[in-house]
Amino acid sequence: MENISESIKYVGVNDKTIDLFEGQYVVPNGMSYNSYILFDEKITVFDTVDKRKTDEWLSKVAAALGKKVPHYLIVSHMEPDHSASLTAFLKKYPDVTVVGNEKTFTIAERFFGDVIKNKLSVKDGEELPIGKHTLKFIFAPMVHWPEVMLSYETTEKVLFSADAFGKFGALDVNEDWTSEARRYYMNIVGKYGAPVQTVLKKASALDIKTICPLHGPVLNENLEYYLGKYDIWSSYAAEDSGVMIAYASIYGNTAEAAEKLADILRGKGVKVETADLTRDDMPQAVANAFRYDKLAVACSTYDGWLFPVMEHFLNRIKSKNYQNRKVALIENGSWAPVANKVMRSIFETMKNITFTEKSVTVNSAVNEQTISELTALADELSK
Ligand SMILES: Cc1cc2nc3c(=O)[nH]c(=O)nc-3n(C[C@H](O)[C@H](O)[C@H](O)COP(=O)(O)O)c2cc1C
Ligand SMILES: [Fe+2]
Ligand SMILES: [Fe+2]
Repeated sequence: MENISESIKYVGVNDKTIDLFEGQYVVPNGMSYNSYILFDEKITVFDTVDKRKTDEWLSKVAAALGKKVPHYLIVSHMEPDHSASLTAFLKKYPDVTVVGNEKTFTIAERFFGDVIKNKLSVKDGEELPIGKHTLKFIFAPMVHWPEVMLSYETTEKVLFSADAFGKFGALDVNEDWTSEARRYYMNIVGKYGAPVQTVLKKASALDIKTICPLHGPVLNENLEYYLGKYDIWSSYAAEDSGVMIAYASIYGNTAEAAEKLADILRGKGVKVETADLTRDDMPQAVANAFRYDKLAVACSTYDGWLFPVMEHFLNRIKSKNYQNRKVALIENGSWAPVANKVMRSIFETMKNITFTEKSVTVNSAVNEQTISELTALADELSK
């Protein structure tokens, strides 16, 4: 990536070989761990990188520095994808002062022991002059770790936003920001809508020209778009009108019913996404559940309960505070179908979920009766 400005240089790295980010997310286009250097009287480095890329990052940092040495290292949070190279960095630049907050240093000690010699513990709203530039720290507790803080550079109006506004995907691939930023946000930050809203309020008081996140591209135009998406996502509002259909099927009959519903809805001009929960990417299904204002779930009854992937899916959206949506239930069973009852009881533990008047029961296989029930359900969902 090119320089962010005359004073700010990108020194992050792309990881194209990681199989699962955070131990669970497929990243077909890899991942970037971003890091930046701000050149001024006191040269300041923003965050380290994952341990998979320590050496590559250190040589990029060295190349950018030339004969100079860094004065500060800002630690936005202690999650290992950004802090794992801290010890190696301090070994190479032992006089660096690490800037964090009280919680940062507590957690750092848990990870690395007593390796930080020079600590600067800052407070929320505190300013740190580093020459012509000044950094102002904005605490963002529980977005999504307790010690998270953003740094706002007041002269160039750059927000170093930590994981906020980040996405999956390395920087040398061209892909849609929104889809992979949504999948990242919903699954990694989704539970913390209220703290994100608090930070957005703080950010709205700032004049921001550039956002430098820890993953994904630097954002320097059309910032209202990205801030707007974060506002929608963190307030648990639907982003689009449409129906997400998630299904869990053993032999394919429930899948057939779900896909039939999708066809009928598409025929009515409704925007529809589907996910076969045993085969398709579960985090993508979670993201789409949040994206649309309606969710249809279709599940085979299994041992007097749900086919396990459906329970898993419902637990996942619940743990991300799924709320404010309309839900339709479709079940299948050959002798005593109970899936709708079980799914309904799980949704009833979530906030502000309303159910469609009609729900559908398939008795083993899709027949004419099923089609007419699905058609009636589609009528209701397309209203
Ligand atoms: C291991 C197993 C457990 C099942 N448990 C139940 C059950 O408790 N109640 C029921 O009505 N059907 C039960 N079924 C039957 C399925 O729900 C039913 O055959 C349904 O049509 C399967 O839909 P599918 O083709 O989408 O997998 C079970 C099926 C399997 C394979
Ligand atoms: Fe993080
Ligand atoms: Fe991260």
